Amino acid sequence: MKEYGSSITFWDKMNTEEREMFIDNTNEFRNLMMLYTCALKEITTKFEVLDEEFSVRFNRNPVEEIKSRLKSPNSIFDKLKRKGLPITVQAVRDNLFDVAGVRIICSFPEDIYNLADMLTRQDDIKLIRTKDYIANPKENGYRSLHLIVQVPIFLSDRTEYMNVEVQLRTIAMDFWASIEHKVRYKKDIKNTEIVSSGLKECADIISNLDIYMQNIHHYIDEENGEGNKD
Ligand code: GTP
Ligand code: MG
Repeated sequence: MKEYGSSITFWDKMNTEEREMFIDNTNEFRNLMMLYTCALKEITTKFEVLDEEFSVRFNRNPVEEIKSRLKSPNSIFDKLKRKGLPITVQAVRDNLFDVAGVRIICSFPEDIYNLADMLTRQDDIKLIRTKDYIANPKENGYRSLHLIVQVPIFLSDRTEYMNVEVQLRTIAMDFWASIEHKVRYKKDIKNTEIVSSGLKECADIISNLDIYMQNIHHYIDEENGEGNKD
């Protein structure tokens, strides 16, 4: 079956004891990944609904793009090992908050906070953690709003509450993060200080650009008598 192909390296990395534990838990593990897949769908749909409503109510779409990803078994395994945790479903649920990840790419910085508020105000969403790397950018210049939220998954005989990492950023912040990510994983970079300070400078330029574009957007709205309806 196709799905087994991708788990060969995962399997190869384990010692006998770990393999036995994995076999014992395989069904449980598959069930866990199913739950995270459903959690991704729930969160993705919630943002699609908000975007849909915005397009009718305010005549524009604050969401440029929604990307979602499920952490691979290999990365889950590596992260558990790195944290010195047992290879169990419970350890994943209790300690890894980014197995299910949704990235929301917005038009303007204010959309980020508005969408985050709208999501976390929903009755079935529990906010677990917020990291505001826009108000407090990382030293390298990284900006995004990160939320860990818990969403219920209604199953045939029970309800499961699953954690999802939501990253909200503008198109410009996403552009910067994807280039920075590529650069970071490049081996043998020379003059790392020059590269780092260049990236930091770009991050600051991008942050100003986002505010500038948002101001232009407000100006156009005001000129057209739309005002700020938020
Ligand atoms: P880990 O997920 O284990 O890294 O720890 P954490 O949960 O404390 O991470 P944090 O919320 O700070 O960041 C999680 C995710 O944000 C990462 O997996 C990346 O996708 C993204 N991220 C964080 N910092 C950076 C950065 O400096 N550059 C880029 N390109 N992405 C980042
Ligand atoms: Mg992570």
